[in-house]
Amino acid sequence: MRISIIGCGYVGLVTGACLSEIGHEVICTDNDVKKIAVLAEGGVPIYEQHLEAILKESRRSGRIRFTTDMAETVRQGDAIFICVGTPPLETGEADLSAIENVARQIASESRSPKLVVEKSTVPVQTGQQLKRALTVYSRNHGARFHVASNPEFLREGTAVGDFLHPDRIVIGVEDEEAEKQLREIYRPILDGKFHCPVHAPKCPPHPAPSLLVTTINSAELIKHASNSFLALKISYANLIADVCERMGANVEEVTRAMGMDPRIGPQFLNAGLGFGGFCLPKDIQAFIRLAERAGVDFAMLREAERINKQRIDFFLEKVRRALWVVKDKQIGVLGLAFKPNTDDIRFAPAMEILRRLQSEGAHLRASDPEAMEKTRAIYPQIAYHRDPYEVARGSDALLLLTEWEEFRTLDWERVRNLMARPLVLDARNMTNPAQMRALGFEYDCFGRPQLSPAPVSQ
Ligand code: UGA
Repeated sequence: MRISIIGCGYVGLVTGACLSEIGHEVICTDNDVKKIAVLAEGGVPIYEQHLEAILKESRRSGRIRFTTDMAETVRQGDAIFICVGTPPLETGEADLSAIENVARQIASESRSPKLVVEKSTVPVQTGQQLKRALTVYSRNHGARFHVASNPEFLREGTAVGDFLHPDRIVIGVEDEEAEKQLREIYRPILDGKFHCPVHAPKCPPHPAPSLLVTTINSAELIKHASNSFLALKISYANLIADVCERMGANVEEVTRAMGMDPRIGPQFLNAGLGFGGFCLPKDIQAFIRLAERAGVDFAMLREAERINKQRIDFFLEKVRRALWVVKDKQIGVLGLAFKPNTDDIRFAPAMEILRRLQSEGAHLRASDPEAMEKTRAIYPQIAYHRDPYEVARGSDALLLLTEWEEFRTLDWERVRNLMARPLVLDARNMTNPAQMRALGFEYDCFGRPQLSPAPVSQ
Protein backbone atom coordinates (compact mmCIF):
# COMPACT_ATOMS: atom_id res chain seq x y z
CA MET A 1 0.00 0.00 0.00
CA ARG A 2 1.11 3.62 -0.45
CA ILE A 3 1.57 5.21 2.94
CA SER A 4 2.28 8.81 3.91
CA ILE A 5 3.92 9.71 7.20
CA ILE A 6 3.45 13.24 8.49
CA GLY A 7 5.92 14.07 11.26
CA CYS A 8 9.40 12.55 11.30
CA GLY A 9 10.03 12.46 15.03
CA TYR A 10 10.90 9.21 16.69
CA VAL A 11 7.43 7.65 16.24
CA GLY A 12 7.06 8.79 12.62
CA LEU A 13 10.51 7.58 11.64
CA VAL A 14 10.18 4.17 13.25
CA THR A 15 6.67 3.76 11.83
CA GLY A 16 7.72 4.83 8.34
CA ALA A 17 10.86 2.71 8.35
CA CYS A 18 9.09 -0.41 9.63
CA LEU A 19 6.14 -0.03 7.24
CA SER A 20 8.58 0.19 4.34
CA GLU A 21 10.49 -2.79 5.75
CA ILE A 22 7.33 -4.92 5.57
CA GLY A 23 6.77 -3.99 1.95
CA HIS A 24 4.78 -0.75 1.76
CA GLU A 25 5.72 2.26 -0.33
CA VAL A 26 6.33 5.12 2.11
CA ILE A 27 6.69 8.87 1.70
CA CYS A 28 7.55 11.00 4.73
CA THR A 29 7.39 14.71 5.43
CA ASP A 30 8.07 17.08 8.30
CA ASN A 31 7.91 20.86 8.64
CA ASP A 32 11.48 20.80 9.97
CA VAL A 33 13.36 21.43 6.73
CA LYS A 34 16.75 20.61 8.25
CA LYS A 35 15.55 17.23 9.48
CA ILE A 36 14.22 16.31 6.06
CA ALA A 37 17.49 17.43 4.46
CA VAL A 38 19.42 15.08 6.78
CA LEU A 39 17.04 12.20 6.04
CA ALA A 40 16.99 12.81 2.30
CA GLU A 41 20.78 12.72 2.24
CA GLY A 42 20.88 9.35 3.97
CA GLY A 43 21.34 10.50 7.57
CA VAL A 44 19.25 9.65 10.63
CA PRO A 45 18.56 12.49 13.09
CA ILE A 46 17.99 10.24 16.15
CA TYR A 47 19.71 7.21 17.60
CA GLU A 48 17.48 4.14 17.65
CA GLN A 49 18.83 0.61 17.27
CA HIS A 50 18.32 -0.91 13.77
CA LEU A 51 16.72 2.26 12.38
CA GLU A 52 19.72 3.34 10.36
CA ALA A 53 20.09 -0.10 8.75
CA ILE A 54 16.40 -0.32 7.81
CA LEU A 55 16.37 3.18 6.36
CA LYS A 56 19.47 2.46 4.34
CA GLU A 57 17.95 -0.64 2.82
CA SER A 58 14.56 1.00 2.20
CA ARG A 59 16.16 4.00 0.54
CA ARG A 60 18.26 1.72 -1.62
CA SER A 61 15.23 -0.24 -2.80
CA GLY A 62 13.23 2.97 -3.31
CA ARG A 63 10.52 1.99 -0.81
CA ILE A 64 10.95 5.14 1.28
CA ARG A 65 11.60 8.75 0.49
CA PHE A 66 11.60 12.06 2.32
CA THR A 67 10.27 15.40 1.14
CA THR A 68 9.35 18.81 2.49
CA ASP A 69 6.39 18.90 0.10
CA MET A 70 3.34 18.39 2.29
CA ALA A 71 0.86 18.51 -0.60
CA GLU A 72 2.71 15.79 -2.48
CA THR A 73 2.92 13.64 0.66
CA VAL A 74 -0.81 13.95 1.24
CA ARG A 75 -1.67 13.10 -2.37
CA GLN A 76 0.68 10.12 -2.64
CA GLY A 77 -0.68 8.03 0.23
CA ASP A 78 -3.78 5.85 0.34
CA ALA A 79 -3.25 5.91 4.10
CA ILE A 80 -1.86 8.91 5.96
CA PHE A 81 -0.31 8.38 9.39
CA ILE A 82 -0.31 11.50 11.55
CA CYS A 83 2.80 11.27 13.74
CA VAL A 84 3.26 14.90 14.79
CA GLY A 85 4.18 15.89 18.34
CA THR A 86 1.62 16.60 21.05
CA PRO A 87 3.85 18.33 23.63
CA PRO A 88 2.49 19.44 27.00
CA LEU A 89 1.03 22.93 27.36
CA GLU A 90 1.72 24.82 30.59
CA THR A 91 -1.51 23.39 31.98
CA GLY A 92 -0.25 19.82 31.39
CA GLU A 93 -2.82 19.28 28.62
CA ALA A 94 -1.60 18.04 25.26
CA ASP A 95 -1.04 20.72 22.63
CA LEU A 96 -3.10 19.58 19.64
CA SER A 97 -2.33 22.50 17.34
CA ALA A 98 -0.01 20.41 15.13
CA ILE A 99 -2.73 17.78 14.69
CA GLU A 100 -5.27 20.41 13.71
CA ASN A 101 -2.87 22.02 11.30
CA VAL A 102 -2.12 18.69 9.60
CA ALA A 103 -5.85 17.89 9.42
CA ARG A 104 -6.49 21.14 7.56
CA GLN A 105 -3.73 20.41 5.08
CA ILE A 106 -4.90 16.85 4.48
CA ALA A 107 -8.42 18.15 3.93
CA SER A 108 -7.39 20.79 1.44
CA GLU A 109 -4.76 18.80 -0.48
CA SER A 110 -6.51 15.43 -0.84
CA ARG A 111 -7.86 14.51 -4.28
CA SER A 112 -8.84 10.90 -3.59
CA PRO A 113 -10.21 8.84 -0.67
CA LYS A 114 -7.85 8.64 2.29
CA LEU A 115 -7.52 6.61 5.44
CA VAL A 116 -6.32 9.09 8.06
CA VAL A 117 -4.64 7.34 10.98
CA GLU A 118 -3.90 9.02 14.31
CA LYS A 119 -0.58 7.64 15.52
CA SER A 120 0.36 10.53 17.81
CA THR A 121 -0.67 10.12 21.44
CA VAL A 122 -3.80 12.22 21.84
CA PRO A 123 -6.54 12.69 24.43
CA VAL A 124 -9.73 10.71 23.95
CA GLN A 125 -12.18 12.34 21.50
CA THR A 126 -9.44 13.87 19.35
CA GLY A 127 -10.49 11.52 16.54
CA GLN A 128 -13.96 13.06 16.60
CA GLN A 129 -12.45 16.53 16.25
CA LEU A 130 -10.19 15.25 13.51
CA LYS A 131 -13.17 13.94 11.55
CA ARG A 132 -14.88 17.29 11.88
CA ALA A 133 -11.80 19.25 10.79
CA LEU A 134 -11.36 17.01 7.73
CA THR A 135 -14.94 17.63 6.70
CA VAL A 136 -14.97 21.34 7.41
CA TYR A 137 -11.75 22.12 5.55
CA SER A 138 -12.17 19.67 2.69
CA ARG A 139 -12.27 21.26 -0.76
CA ASN A 140 -14.14 18.18 -1.83
CA HIS A 141 -12.14 17.15 -4.89
CA GLY A 142 -13.45 13.62 -4.60
CA ALA A 143 -11.83 13.16 -1.20
CA ARG A 144 -13.59 10.97 1.31
CA PHE A 145 -11.99 10.35 4.66
CA HIS A 146 -11.93 7.34 6.92
CA VAL A 147 -10.48 8.13 10.32
CA ALA A 148 -8.80 5.62 12.62
CA SER A 149 -6.80 5.65 15.82
CA ASN A 150 -3.82 3.31 15.93
CA PRO A 151 -1.85 4.05 19.11
CA GLU A 152 1.78 3.01 19.26
CA PHE A 153 3.33 1.10 22.15
CA LEU A 154 6.94 1.51 21.08
CA ARG A 155 9.64 1.84 23.68
CA GLU A 156 12.63 3.96 22.77
CA GLY A 157 15.69 1.79 22.43
CA THR A 158 13.70 -1.27 21.32
CA ALA A 159 11.18 0.47 19.07
CA VAL A 160 11.94 -1.44 15.86
CA GLY A 161 11.55 -4.81 17.59
CA ASP A 162 8.39 -3.56 19.33
CA PHE A 163 6.90 -2.49 16.00
CA LEU A 164 7.61 -5.73 14.21
CA HIS A 165 6.83 -8.04 17.13
CA PRO A 166 4.04 -6.26 19.02
CA ASP A 167 2.04 -8.00 21.73
CA ARG A 168 -1.03 -6.20 20.45
CA ILE A 169 -2.08 -3.94 17.60
CA VAL A 170 -4.97 -1.69 18.54
CA ILE A 171 -7.09 -0.17 15.82
CA GLY A 172 -9.90 2.20 16.69
CA VAL A 173 -12.30 2.48 13.77
CA GLU A 174 -15.85 3.44 12.98
CA ASP A 175 -16.29 1.85 9.58
CA GLU A 176 -15.43 -1.40 7.84
CA GLU A 177 -13.27 0.17 5.18
CA ALA A 178 -10.88 1.65 7.76
CA GLU A 179 -10.60 -1.71 9.52
CA LYS A 180 -10.01 -3.52 6.23
CA GLN A 181 -7.23 -1.18 5.19
CA LEU A 182 -5.47 -1.30 8.56
CA ARG A 183 -5.62 -5.10 8.57
CA GLU A 184 -4.03 -4.99 5.14
CA ILE A 185 -1.29 -2.63 6.29
CA TYR A 186 -0.39 -4.85 9.25
CA ARG A 187 -0.97 -8.18 7.43
CA PRO A 188 2.77 -9.09 7.15
CA ILE A 189 3.21 -8.53 10.91
CA LEU A 190 0.01 -10.39 11.83
CA ASP A 191 1.04 -13.32 9.63
CA GLY A 192 4.71 -13.14 10.70
CA LYS A 193 5.73 -12.82 7.05
CA PHE A 194 8.45 -10.22 6.78
CA HIS A 195 12.20 -9.99 6.86
CA CYS A 196 13.13 -9.10 10.45
CA PRO A 197 16.21 -6.87 10.74
CA VAL A 198 16.32 -7.32 14.53
CA HIS A 199 16.66 -11.10 14.60
CA ALA A 200 18.32 -11.88 11.27
CA PRO A 201 18.61 -14.58 10.04
CA LYS A 202 15.65 -15.97 12.00
CA CYS A 203 13.32 -14.64 14.71
CA PRO A 204 12.95 -16.63 17.92
CA PRO A 205 9.40 -17.96 18.33
CA HIS A 206 7.01 -15.12 19.18
CA PRO A 207 3.33 -15.46 20.02
CA ALA A 208 1.24 -14.05 17.15
CA PRO A 209 0.20 -10.47 17.96
CA SER A 210 -3.43 -9.83 18.90
CA LEU A 211 -5.33 -7.38 16.75
CA LEU A 212 -7.86 -5.49 18.83
CA VAL A 213 -10.58 -3.63 16.99
CA THR A 214 -12.17 -0.95 19.17
CA THR A 215 -13.94 2.36 18.84
CA ILE A 216 -11.78 5.39 18.15
CA ASN A 217 -12.45 6.77 21.64
CA SER A 218 -11.38 3.51 23.31
CA ALA A 219 -8.21 3.24 21.22
CA GLU A 220 -7.19 6.75 22.24
CA LEU A 221 -7.89 6.01 25.89
CA ILE A 222 -5.99 2.70 25.81
CA LYS A 223 -2.77 4.56 25.14
CA HIS A 224 -3.12 7.05 28.00
CA ALA A 225 -4.42 4.39 30.38
CA SER A 226 -1.48 2.09 29.57
CA ASN A 227 1.26 4.68 29.99
CA SER A 228 -0.30 6.02 33.18
CA PHE A 229 -0.50 2.51 34.61
CA LEU A 230 3.19 1.92 33.84
CA ALA A 231 3.99 5.17 35.64
CA LEU A 232 1.91 4.07 38.64
CA LYS A 233 3.76 0.76 38.74
CA ILE A 234 7.17 2.46 38.80
CA SER A 235 6.14 4.89 41.54
CA TYR A 236 4.76 2.00 43.57
CA ALA A 237 8.08 0.14 43.27
CA ASN A 238 9.91 3.29 44.31
CA LEU A 239 7.88 3.61 47.50
CA ILE A 240 8.48 -0.08 48.23
CA ALA A 241 12.20 0.70 47.86
CA ASP A 242 11.93 3.48 50.44
CA VAL A 243 10.24 1.15 52.91
CA CYS A 244 12.88 -1.53 52.22
CA GLU A 245 15.67 0.97 52.77
CA ARG A 246 14.34 1.97 56.17
CA MET A 247 13.42 -1.51 57.34
CA GLY A 248 16.45 -3.44 56.13
CA ALA A 249 14.71 -5.38 53.33
CA ASN A 250 15.94 -5.62 49.76
CA VAL A 251 13.65 -4.14 47.09
CA GLU A 252 15.03 -6.44 44.41
CA GLU A 253 14.06 -9.51 46.38
CA VAL A 254 10.64 -8.07 47.15
CA THR A 255 9.77 -6.96 43.60
CA ARG A 256 11.18 -10.15 42.08
CA ALA A 257 8.81 -12.25 44.15
CA MET A 258 5.92 -9.85 43.50
CA GLY A 259 6.55 -10.04 39.77
CA MET A 260 6.28 -13.82 39.75
CA ASP A 261 2.59 -13.43 40.40
CA PRO A 262 1.16 -13.28 36.87
CA ARG A 263 -1.47 -10.83 38.10
CA ILE A 264 1.34 -8.37 38.86
CA GLY A 265 4.05 -9.24 36.30
CA PRO A 266 7.77 -8.58 36.60
CA GLN A 267 8.18 -5.53 34.40
CA PHE A 268 8.27 -1.89 35.45
CA LEU A 269 9.06 -2.71 39.05
CA ASN A 270 12.65 -1.45 38.93
CA ALA A 271 13.12 1.10 41.66
CA GLY A 272 15.54 3.98 41.28
CA LEU A 273 15.49 7.48 39.90
CA GLY A 274 11.96 7.26 38.51
CA PHE A 275 10.51 7.64 35.06
CA GLY A 276 11.57 10.23 32.52
CA GLY A 277 11.40 10.62 28.76
CA PHE A 278 8.90 12.31 26.52
CA CYS A 279 6.06 9.83 27.05
CA LEU A 280 5.33 8.76 30.61
CA PRO A 281 5.76 12.18 32.30
CA LYS A 282 3.69 14.04 29.71
CA ASP A 283 1.07 11.35 29.25
CA ILE A 284 0.38 11.06 32.96
CA GLN A 285 -0.12 14.83 33.12
CA ALA A 286 -2.35 14.87 30.08
CA PHE A 287 -4.40 12.02 31.53
CA ILE A 288 -4.82 13.82 34.87
CA ARG A 289 -6.14 16.90 33.02
CA LEU A 290 -8.37 14.78 30.83
CA ALA A 291 -9.85 13.01 33.84
CA GLU A 292 -10.46 16.40 35.47
CA ARG A 293 -12.36 17.57 32.40
CA ALA A 294 -14.38 14.37 32.56
CA GLY A 295 -15.19 15.14 36.22
CA VAL A 296 -13.07 12.24 37.53
CA ASP A 297 -10.62 12.93 40.33
CA PHE A 298 -7.63 10.77 39.39
CA ALA A 299 -5.70 11.64 42.56
CA MET A 300 -3.66 8.44 42.40
CA LEU A 301 -2.01 9.66 39.21
CA ARG A 302 -1.15 13.00 40.79
CA GLU A 303 0.41 11.08 43.63
CA ALA A 304 2.45 8.89 41.23
CA GLU A 305 3.74 12.06 39.60
CA ARG A 306 4.65 13.60 42.97
CA ILE A 307 6.47 10.43 44.06
CA ASN A 308 8.37 10.47 40.79
CA LYS A 309 9.57 14.06 41.22
CA GLN A 310 10.64 13.26 44.76
CA ARG A 311 13.12 10.63 43.54
CA ILE A 312 15.47 13.35 42.38
CA ASP A 313 15.30 15.12 45.77
CA PHE A 314 15.96 11.84 47.56
CA PHE A 315 18.92 11.07 45.35
CA LEU A 316 20.45 14.51 45.76
CA GLU A 317 20.01 14.12 49.50
CA LYS A 318 22.11 10.94 49.29
CA VAL A 319 24.77 12.84 47.33
CA ARG A 320 24.88 15.66 49.87
CA ARG A 321 24.92 13.26 52.81
CA ALA A 322 27.85 11.36 51.32
CA LEU A 323 29.88 14.40 50.21
CA TRP A 324 29.02 16.73 53.09
CA VAL A 325 29.94 19.80 50.99
CA VAL A 326 29.04 19.72 47.30
CA LYS A 327 30.65 23.04 46.32
CA ASP A 328 33.92 22.58 44.44
CA LYS A 329 33.72 18.79 44.51
CA GLN A 330 34.45 16.95 41.27
CA ILE A 331 31.47 14.76 40.50
CA GLY A 332 31.44 12.22 37.68
CA VAL A 333 28.12 11.40 36.02
CA LEU A 334 27.65 8.18 34.07
CA GLY A 335 24.43 8.24 32.05
CA LEU A 336 22.52 11.21 30.66
CA ALA A 337 19.77 9.71 28.47
CA PHE A 338 16.42 9.03 30.17
CA LYS A 339 17.07 5.32 29.68
CA PRO A 340 19.68 3.16 27.93
CA ASN A 341 19.94 2.62 24.17
CA THR A 342 18.65 6.06 23.24
CA ASP A 343 20.09 9.55 22.88
CA ASP A 344 16.87 11.09 24.18
CA ILE A 345 17.37 13.44 27.13
CA ARG A 346 13.89 14.96 27.23
CA PHE A 347 12.63 14.95 30.83
CA ALA A 348 15.61 12.74 31.72
CA PRO A 349 16.13 12.75 35.51
CA ALA A 350 19.85 13.23 34.84
CA MET A 351 19.18 16.70 33.39
CA GLU A 352 17.61 17.98 36.60
CA ILE A 353 20.41 16.43 38.65
CA LEU A 354 23.05 18.18 36.51
CA ARG A 355 21.21 21.47 36.85
CA ARG A 356 20.99 21.29 40.61
CA LEU A 357 24.55 20.06 41.21
CA GLN A 358 25.87 22.74 38.91
CA SER A 359 23.94 25.42 40.78
CA GLU A 360 25.42 24.10 44.04
CA GLY A 361 28.92 24.67 42.68
CA ALA A 362 30.02 21.11 41.79
CA HIS A 363 32.54 20.55 38.98
CA LEU A 364 30.88 18.03 36.69
CA ARG A 365 32.28 15.48 34.27
CA ALA A 366 29.91 13.29 32.30
CA SER A 367 29.73 10.39 29.89
CA ASP A 368 26.97 8.72 27.90
CA PRO A 369 27.34 6.47 24.84
CA GLU A 370 24.80 8.45 22.79
CA ALA A 371 23.43 11.48 24.63
CA MET A 372 26.50 13.69 25.18
CA GLU A 373 25.98 15.98 22.19
CA LYS A 374 22.39 16.74 23.08
CA THR A 375 23.35 17.39 26.71
CA ARG A 376 26.27 19.59 25.72
CA ALA A 377 23.83 21.90 23.93
CA ILE A 378 22.08 22.51 27.28
CA TYR A 379 25.05 22.31 29.66
CA PRO A 380 28.13 23.48 27.75
CA GLN A 381 30.14 24.04 30.99
CA ILE A 382 30.31 20.32 31.83
CA ALA A 383 33.42 18.34 30.81
CA TYR A 384 32.32 15.48 28.54
CA HIS A 385 34.37 12.32 27.98
CA ARG A 386 33.37 9.40 25.82
CA ASP A 387 35.59 7.24 28.02
CA PRO A 388 33.86 6.63 31.38
CA TYR A 389 37.23 6.07 33.07
CA GLU A 390 38.11 9.68 32.27
CA VAL A 391 34.97 10.71 34.12
CA ALA A 392 36.06 8.68 37.14
CA ARG A 393 39.60 10.10 37.12
CA GLY A 394 40.04 12.43 40.09
CA SER A 395 36.33 12.43 41.01
CA ASP A 396 35.09 12.68 44.59
CA ALA A 397 31.94 10.78 43.65
CA LEU A 398 30.59 8.84 40.69
CA LEU A 399 26.85 8.94 40.01
CA LEU A 400 25.25 6.16 37.95
CA LEU A 401 22.16 7.71 36.37
CA THR A 402 21.34 5.56 33.31
CA GLU A 403 21.76 1.79 33.23
CA TRP A 404 23.77 1.42 30.01
CA GLU A 405 25.29 -2.07 29.76
CA GLU A 406 28.68 -0.46 29.18
CA PHE A 407 28.58 1.08 32.66
CA ARG A 408 27.36 -2.08 34.36
CA THR A 409 30.40 -3.96 33.09
CA LEU A 410 33.12 -1.41 33.91
CA ASP A 411 36.40 -2.59 35.42
CA TRP A 412 35.46 -1.32 38.87
CA GLU A 413 38.89 -1.90 40.36
CA ARG A 414 40.30 0.41 37.73
CA VAL A 415 37.54 2.93 38.46
CA ARG A 416 38.33 2.82 42.18
CA ASN A 417 42.02 3.43 41.58
CA LEU A 418 41.28 6.43 39.36
CA MET A 419 38.93 8.20 41.76
CA ALA A 420 40.02 10.78 44.36
CA ARG A 421 37.52 9.18 46.71
CA PRO A 422 35.97 5.81 45.83
CA LEU A 423 32.35 6.82 46.32
CA VAL A 424 29.63 5.44 44.03
CA LEU A 425 25.97 6.47 44.18
CA ASP A 426 23.99 4.10 42.02
CA ALA A 427 20.61 5.67 41.23
CA ARG A 428 19.54 2.75 39.01
CA ASN A 429 20.51 -0.20 41.23
CA MET A 430 22.69 -1.50 38.40
CA THR A 431 25.69 -2.70 40.38
CA ASN A 432 25.92 -5.24 43.17
CA PRO A 433 26.19 -3.52 46.58
CA ALA A 434 28.10 -6.35 48.28
CA GLN A 435 30.62 -6.56 45.44
CA MET A 436 31.09 -2.80 45.30
CA ARG A 437 31.70 -2.59 49.03
CA ALA A 438 34.05 -5.58 48.86
CA LEU A 439 36.02 -3.67 46.22
CA GLY A 440 36.46 -0.86 48.71
CA PHE A 441 33.81 1.57 47.48
CA GLU A 442 31.66 3.71 49.71
CA TYR A 443 28.36 2.92 48.09
CA ASP A 444 24.68 3.84 48.14
CA CYS A 445 21.67 2.98 45.99
CA PHE A 446 17.87 2.71 46.39
CA GLY A 447 16.16 0.15 48.61
CA ARG A 448 19.09 -2.20 49.06
CA PRO A 449 20.42 -1.27 52.48
CA GLN A 450 23.58 -2.43 54.23
CA LEU A 451 23.15 -5.52 56.35
CA SER A 452 22.08 -3.72 59.52
CA PRO A 453 18.84 -1.80 59.04
CA ALA A 454 18.78 1.88 59.90
CA PRO A 455 17.00 2.56 63.22
CA VAL A 456 13.40 3.60 62.80
CA SER A 457 11.96 6.28 65.01
CA GLN A 458 8.75 5.25 66.77
C1 UGA B 1 6.87 4.39 27.09
C2 UGA B 1 6.04 3.10 27.12
O1 UGA B 1 6.75 2.09 27.83
C3 UGA B 1 5.73 2.61 25.71
O2 UGA B 1 4.89 1.47 25.76
C4 UGA B 1 5.04 3.74 24.94
O3 UGA B 1 4.76 3.37 23.61
C5 UGA B 1 5.94 4.96 24.92
O4 UGA B 1 6.21 5.36 26.28
C6 UGA B 1 5.23 6.06 24.19
O5 UGA B 1 4.22 6.56 24.69
O6 UGA B 1 5.61 6.38 23.06
P1 UGA B 1 9.47 4.93 26.70
O7 UGA B 1 9.13 6.34 27.02
O8 UGA B 1 10.33 4.63 25.53
O9 UGA B 1 8.14 4.05 26.50
O10 UGA B 1 10.24 4.35 27.96
P2 UGA B 1 9.95 3.26 29.08
O11 UGA B 1 10.66 2.02 28.78
O12 UGA B 1 8.50 3.19 29.37
O13 UGA B 1 10.69 3.95 30.32
C7 UGA B 1 10.20 5.20 30.83
C8 UGA B 1 10.99 5.61 32.04
O14 UGA B 1 10.68 4.77 33.14
C9 UGA B 1 12.51 5.56 31.88
O15 UGA B 1 13.06 6.73 32.44
C10 UGA B 1 12.92 4.35 32.68
O16 UGA B 1 14.20 4.46 33.21
C11 UGA B 1 11.87 4.35 33.78
N1 UGA B 1 11.62 3.02 34.37
C12 UGA B 1 11.13 2.01 33.60
C13 UGA B 1 11.85 2.80 35.70
O17 UGA B 1 12.27 3.72 36.45
N2 UGA B 1 11.61 1.57 36.24
C14 UGA B 1 11.13 0.56 35.50
O18 UGA B 1 10.91 -0.55 36.07
C15 UGA B 1 10.89 0.76 34.15
